[in-house]
Amino acid sequence: MLLKRLTEACGGPGQEDEVRDLIRAEVKDLADQVTTDALGNLIAVKKGTKAGPKVMIAAHMDEVALMIMGIEKNGLLKFSPIGGIDPRVLVAKTVVIGKNRVPGVIGSKPIHLQRPDERKKALTIEEMYIDIGVSKKEGAERLVNVGDLAYFTTEFAEIGPDKFKAKALDDRVGCAMLIDILKDSYQFPLYGVFTVQEEVGLRGAGTAAYQVQPDLALVLEGTTASDVPEIPEHKHATTVGKGPSLTVMDSSVIPDPRLVAKLMQLAEKHNIPVQYRRNTAGGTDAGKIQQSRQGVPVAVIALPCRYIHSPVAVGSQTDYDHAVKLVKLFLHSLEEEGGDI
Ligand code: CO
Repeated sequence: MLLKRLTEACGGPGQEDEVRDLIRAEVKDLADQVTTDALGNLIAVKKGTKAGPKVMIAAHMDEVALMIMGIEKNGLLKFSPIGGIDPRVLVAKTVVIGKNRVPGVIGSKPIHLQRPDERKKALTIEEMYIDIGVSKKEGAERLVNVGDLAYFTTEFAEIGPDKFKAKALDDRVGCAMLIDILKDSYQFPLYGVFTVQEEVGLRGAGTAAYQVQPDLALVLEGTTASDVPEIPEHKHATTVGKGPSLTVMDSSVIPDPRLVAKLMQLAEKHNIPVQYRRNTAGGTDAGKIQQSRQGVPVAVIALPCRYIHSPVAVGSQTDYDHAVKLVKLFLHSLEEEGGDI
């Protein structure tokens, strides 16, 4: 299954190779041209039969990870989070490190040795290390390098009637959707762009948009679902199972209101559930794409995911199917109406 393979692949910011190779193999027969730029963005072009509008759809390949920053004399590894990870979710998790997937465990001082006041506090990154089962620095150096990335080891699984759990749903769900969308044919030029380094500040998307020069762009994301009991309803950014979300504002972008309205209208017309994302925190590649060259109208369509940026998140297959359907309807509407918005 595509989403299983995508989420179990490892690719942190700047080290997206494994994910990129997997995606390249998936899209090579769907696109007329597939290239990788200097930063590592993978660009799949379907030329179409008409000159325009030129449409870019972006999804980021990278996931949050931990970077090995040092090796102690006793062989334990010190690390820094890459992207927004809550340190409280890290302790006692299993990880794999680098291309060779060296297995390790995130450790800390055991409860027996903690003072009573320490037991009440969450551990900080400084108090944790990764244990790869060696007892000396030299032993660790044979297995890992400073700069290697450590990844959570969560396996993809379907749970409940229509949900799945996996690591890296942000943004492998976007990558999977984009691959599914590339399976259709379109009359206009469509650029499927799988971007790098989103989690460290939207670094790949801007250079990709500069090359592509799109007339309009969509960003496909996995986003926060805070539909859990201790959060009041008005603070639920999105709710799992209520359809893909449309962003009206976040910290990186105010999407083009005309595109958002158009997507809403299409969803209503075709009975596709959608929801507005009710939270302004976080940013997406849309922020960089919008500001590329002379400016690009953008919209963000996201799959609500619970427990995002943690070792495991939960999303809905029904939401996923609705997101893909909505984007395809939007793209086919451009064939009839052109790119004017
Ligand atoms: Co993301």
